[in-house]
Amino acid sequence: MAHQHRKGTFNKSVSQYISHQVTGQELRINTENSQVRIIVYDHSVIRFRIAKNEEEHSGFSYAVIAEPSPVNFTVTEEADCLFVLTDLLKIKIDKFPVRISAFTKQGELLNSDDKAFGTSWLGHEVTTYKKLQAGERFIGLGEKTGGLDRRGKAYVNWNSDNFAYGVDDDPIYLSTPFYIGVHGHQNYGIFFDNSHKTTFSFGCSNDRFSYFQAEDGEMNYYFIWKPDVAGIIERYTWLTGRIEMPPLWSLGFQQCRYSYYPYPEVLNAARTFREKDIPADVLYLDIHYMDAYKVFTWHPERFPHPEALMKELKSMGFNVVVILDPGVKKEPGYSAYDDGKEKGHFVKYPDGAEFNAQVWPGWSAFPDFTKEEVRDWWGKQMNVLTNNGIEGFWNDMNEPAAWGQHLPDLIEFDYEGEGGTHKKSHNVYGMQMARSTYEGGKTLLQGKRAFVLTRAGYSGIQRYAAVWTGDNVSSDEHMLAGTRLVNSMGLTGIPFAGNDVGGFAGEATPELFARWIALGAFSPFFRSHSMVNSRDSEPWSFGEEVEDISRNYIKLRYRLMPYLYSVFFEASQTGMAVSRSLAIDYTFDSNIYSDPYQNQYLFGPSILVIPVESTRELHKAYFPEGTWYNLYTDKIQHGNREEILIASKELQPLYVKAGSILLMQQSSDHLLNVKELERMEIHVYPGAETSFVYYEDDGETYDYKTGSSLSRTFELKSNSLRISAQTGNYHSHFKNCRVFIHGIKPDSAVSLNAMSSDVESIDYRFVEPVSDFDPYHKPPGEPLEVKDLVYVDFKWSEGEVVVHW
Ligand code: GLC
Repeated sequence: MAHQHRKGTFNKSVSQYISHQVTGQELRINTENSQVRIIVYDHSVIRFRIAKNEEEHSGFSYAVIAEPSPVNFTVTEEADCLFVLTDLLKIKIDKFPVRISAFTKQGELLNSDDKAFGTSWLGHEVTTYKKLQAGERFIGLGEKTGGLDRRGKAYVNWNSDNFAYGVDDDPIYLSTPFYIGVHGHQNYGIFFDNSHKTTFSFGCSNDRFSYFQAEDGEMNYYFIWKPDVAGIIERYTWLTGRIEMPPLWSLGFQQCRYSYYPYPEVLNAARTFREKDIPADVLYLDIHYMDAYKVFTWHPERFPHPEALMKELKSMGFNVVVILDPGVKKEPGYSAYDDGKEKGHFVKYPDGAEFNAQVWPGWSAFPDFTKEEVRDWWGKQMNVLTNNGIEGFWNDMNEPAAWGQHLPDLIEFDYEGEGGTHKKSHNVYGMQMARSTYEGGKTLLQGKRAFVLTRAGYSGIQRYAAVWTGDNVSSDEHMLAGTRLVNSMGLTGIPFAGNDVGGFAGEATPELFARWIALGAFSPFFRSHSMVNSRDSEPWSFGEEVEDISRNYIKLRYRLMPYLYSVFFEASQTGMAVSRSLAIDYTFDSNIYSDPYQNQYLFGPSILVIPVESTRELHKAYFPEGTWYNLYTDKIQHGNREEILIASKELQPLYVKAGSILLMQQSSDHLLNVKELERMEIHVYPGAETSFVYYEDDGETYDYKTGSSLSRTFELKSNSLRISAQTGNYHSHFKNCRVFIHGIKPDSAVSLNAMSSDVESIDYRFVEPVSDFDPYHKPPGEPLEVKDLVYVDFKWSEGEVVVHW
């Protein structure tokens, strides 16, 4: 006979309050079925830990590196609720049952639990349900496909090798369970630090709540409030860490393919870049450089003399990045396998047997990167590479991936001594591999910065590696989706990211490649890559016109390097994105979330980038509030407007915000020789007051950490520019400067440190005209120029300079 079903028997929510106590920064509440711990991290960051029993409170995190700051807060009690008050936030905890809501100090509602469900369990699965606020939008969550506004969608965090993923596929490679909610004129962040498979629903298939859910483990989330999105990212990266200054060469153009081999192919690529005067800094060795895909080996015939090869490439200004996959070929007699096995460094089954799965080398064992000893061991193996002059490492397949894509859940990991199954460890594996590679590189390179690139990761990955978006496809929709992925990572504390320019799988048309490389020049990580057995995809492989376009935009990026490097410095200090979704500065402007405009972004604080599909001759763009200068012509464009742009294929639409300073230098064919570049170009775009911090160091060592760097603040007012005296004791490579003042008349008077100065003007070009080779040669079109651009020259000195006009 069937039993009578009673409603509400499956879902168990946090129940009635029993008691509470405050110790240090923590308020602990006992309920009838659980414990709720509320920890004040600072005035704007509150951590919530909710578990049914002590065991679930593991406490250890790979993501969070901050400790609670000892800030003052108060806890007050009323009959049916408690309040936690900081200088910025008011957290209300209803007692019967225990439910949480967050308000600004002034009492504006930010976020609240669903009254009925709050935090609940279904078996081991734990979920927190948050009431949907009117008009609420959701942004962030890192490397997730879909739109900028994630409302109405749900996402799973489970790092997945997803070859040629669809632009709406989920999950892909990397998990960062952090998002930002936006409603009314408020925004807040939630970081759910649980490494198990997690699901985030932003009002998907329901009109009641958003939720975040983990398959197992503790409900452990950080609530963050700041008045703006930039502030929320700053706090999130206070918790999870920020990038270190990357080696300068890694901001140059990077050319990859699967794979350049044997070695003359690599030399040939290097020479062609130089012959064709296309700047580039990096070439990649994909899996064919290894002997039978065995990690930490060199293929004896394809790369017989790696050290000599690296020397030759270095002399041409190239660094080489090599791929490192985690799978170690199971082959007795192969030293990395024998040694790892003997030391017990590989992941095992619960019965102690070594776990094996198939990847490129065939049956392989997997180092347990969740153990410090194993990370050190891996790092030491890297000397086979660093001894030969390698300074860049590319971690791939570290989701971890294996043929079949379903590792058994019962395999066990060390998880820093705490122990964990695959379910708990999977999402952090890639990050710990990147950490191990980063630490190994740092030790072996003895004070030089290594470059590490990773495919998989978890929150905090930015501390160890740059990220690329895996195996994308040569299509317009992928180019645009890739831009959103990079911008979304920027919202989630990962500023150094990019996608495979031209698309990895499939073959780009010349028009698509031209669009993509111009756009890629405005991506934090800038690399072209393509699949094995596909057509050549170097910038010269698509005809001379595309070659010209590629040269133009790669050169423009190289010229913008003083600006870009300073923007990276800002990212290292505040966690701020390099490619900035418009949701950062224009959070409450609903237009920026709409389909046609959601791909637009700011590159650094000043350059508005408008991606255009290769099939378009006209493109609809949106200009946010303010005034914008067309980069190429200085034509003024007013904001808060939609415009139809003529999308000529050799031009990537770029606009500069009025009230901006762009710092540039001469172009160079690589960045290892920037010290030879003597003139800084300062482009000033009057219109609003602003400041920009210029940063410089040697670009290759850690000496900047002990004071060998310089910074100068550039302050722009309506008719003056003040360059502060430098702080720090690094000597700039610049010897002189030229200040270009946009938007003023050629006969304007300009003074330098209150002395009238010689003023010149020129017709200035950011890009050169592109030749038209097809079908009959036509002379190049009218060059795009800023006519009669006013400038003054002066010597670079370390003291204050004021330019007045
Ligand atoms: C994976 C990577 C790709 C690489 C290939 C071979 O598919 O994502 O970038 O070229 O493996 O190593």
